[in-house]
Amino acid sequence: MNSPRPLGQPLDRVDGPLKVTGQARYAAEFHQPGMLYGSVISSTIARGRVRTLDTHPAESLPGVRLVLTHLNRPPIAGYDEPYEDADAADGSPFRPLYNDRVLYSGQPLALVVADSEELARYAGSLIRIDYEQGEHQTDLSLVLAEAHEAPAELPPARGDAESALRNAPVRLEPQYETAAEHHNPMEMHASTVFYQVDGSLVVHDKTQGVQNCQRYLEEVFDLKGQVRVLSPYVGGAFGSGLRPQYQLPLAVMAALKLKHSVRVVLSRQQMFTFGYRPRTLQRLALGASAEGRLEAITHHAIGQTSRFEDFTEHEVEWSGMLYRCDNVQLGYRLAPLDVYTPLDMRAPGATIGVYALECAMDELAHAAGVDPLELRLRNYSDLNGNTGKPYSSKALRECYAQGAARFGWTDRAAAPRSLRDGQELIGMGMATGVWEAMVMPASAKACLEENGRLVVSSATADMGTGTYTVMTQIAADAMGLPMEQVEFRLGDSNLSQAPLSGGSATVSSVGSAVLKACELLQQRILDAAQQSPASPFTGLGLEQVGFDGGELFVRSNPQTRASLGQVVQVAGHLEAEASFEAGEARDDWSTSTHSAVFVEVRVDEALGTIRVSRVVSAVAAGKVVNPKTAANQIMGGVVWGIGQALHEETLIDHNLGRYMNHNLSEYHIPVNADIPDMEVFFVEEQDDVVNPLGSKGVGEIGIVGVAAAVANAIFNATGTRVRDLPITLDKLL
Ligand code: MOS
Repeated sequence: MNSPRPLGQPLDRVDGPLKVTGQARYAAEFHQPGMLYGSVISSTIARGRVRTLDTHPAESLPGVRLVLTHLNRPPIAGYDEPYEDADAADGSPFRPLYNDRVLYSGQPLALVVADSEELARYAGSLIRIDYEQGEHQTDLSLVLAEAHEAPAELPPARGDAESALRNAPVRLEPQYETAAEHHNPMEMHASTVFYQVDGSLVVHDKTQGVQNCQRYLEEVFDLKGQVRVLSPYVGGAFGSGLRPQYQLPLAVMAALKLKHSVRVVLSRQQMFTFGYRPRTLQRLALGASAEGRLEAITHHAIGQTSRFEDFTEHEVEWSGMLYRCDNVQLGYRLAPLDVYTPLDMRAPGATIGVYALECAMDELAHAAGVDPLELRLRNYSDLNGNTGKPYSSKALRECYAQGAARFGWTDRAAAPRSLRDGQELIGMGMATGVWEAMVMPASAKACLEENGRLVVSSATADMGTGTYTVMTQIAADAMGLPMEQVEFRLGDSNLSQAPLSGGSATVSSVGSAVLKACELLQQRILDAAQQSPASPFTGLGLEQVGFDGGELFVRSNPQTRASLGQVVQVAGHLEAEASFEAGEARDDWSTSTHSAVFVEVRVDEALGTIRVSRVVSAVAAGKVVNPKTAANQIMGGVVWGIGQALHEETLIDHNLGRYMNHNLSEYHIPVNADIPDMEVFFVEEQDDVVNPLGSKGVGEIGIVGVAAAVANAIFNATGTRVRDLPITLDKLL
């Protein structure tokens, strides 16, 4: 009864023991005796047609069951009009094995299905493809003039940015470039399709949305009511699992054709053959008063996309909302190339756009002779400039103050190259981070079972983010039960409706549905407790009772109690299902998370090597349900931000039109030795607007601003401003 309520506690992950003992199974770890294995053959050209595809050497190997190509795939009902999944970009989604056309390098052209994975791979190496090669273009910098308006509704221009810029005492017009990055979570994309005797399918897929994959398969393959998708554990995703990836329809095609269970796993190299963070070029112009007050902002971005879809994200909007400025003009264009469509990747858009804005703010601070933190405070805004609406909560000032204090910002020298330690130049930089606090419609079910255990469920996902733990906390807290007595189920398309787990909206959306389902269940429990004639609860409403220590009690007389176990034993299994969606009250407000990131770097003056030596990230994200799992999310984001700043870049050989460093030895990511001690903390906000939990989401905010803070620290250390990411040592020498 006196145990602390679980909400807000830094509890360990409830699924931790299953994961570290190997009991948690991932999409490629489900087996069936006699099942078959597929291996994907990818195109080696970026544009053209398949003239001939010699599959015979592969097919003639004993144990090879099928080589699936556009020529012999089963008819697919949904291929006439490409089906748009819940995260589809504008355009015409890619259809694997649709016809002989090659749209990008790495496109799947065949699937070899065999008795073992090794055999399938070997057989695939024997397939000879003769192409009719077309002229391709994969270099964004060469097609800027051909870019078209992105299908995005940008905030209208306000004021007159052009003339304000002309008249501004301080003015700068920097250009920034960001590199393509590929997701590469530990778990590669995999689909295990169990073909059932009745022809229906049970599919284990690596996804951030089981119901999105279920709907996709039902629609594309005309299998209404015959598909169940499971994904209880996901080994990282970061956006790569928001859309069904091509191994899923390929595995299903093979399973339907052979009437057999099939698994297809992408190789690590093939993880570079679908969505990614697009390469972008950004032009900013900032005009300010002599004191650094913003008088004009223009921000124009051009991103690459495919020829079949317009991948669109929020890249420039942040520049119209983050600071007070009366004259703003934003633009966003897309340049189609012979590449696959980009895809959401952790804090899509903000990672790119806020990087540019926050570097430009640092450049402005330097030009105006104002401390970078002081510059942000002078331009602080309590309104979202794009909408004019106030924030439902915004503790960014506190993030700045507390972050600066913990970091020791006052030790920073304003002039670059002022601090050194032997051969190393030391620099400090900071940046602001921002992300949307979204909610999406979601449902959840709560069941009190006869043994007194509470089982709560929703078709959401846990990509290592902590969903199992946090939902268990929310339910245990609401029902006054110990954590051990509550179980949360997810990753099954049969469960209550849930949105894609993305956009940092899972806790806010599904968590709110869990809360509502628990409140409904409380009513059912009270109703049941009132059934017996001499019930001490007779006549009481829900507001007059409480739930604590596994018991229902009367608030005015806390000794009057009944155990939930007893109530449910008499009444039998009790359950409630509830749906949550954003209320209208939200419309009057702007809802965002914010952060202040402080970074120290050490740059070897002779070698140009860069080391991030300290990071402090202060985050305001409303109510934090679990400070431990939430801090993990922020740490992951900070690590990725360091990667964005210093390491990550997928490079295309434009002669071949192909990503060249498509493996983890040449695609550089930060390793343990690259990551310093970092301090991550939350400035808690009280927010009654965002949702009933007051939570604002912590998945994405951790990365936003980090690359800018690193770049700004490098400038402070060296006096060299590098405006294209990643900042490798050659750019400093
Ligand atoms: Mo996140 S890019 O919405 O997984």
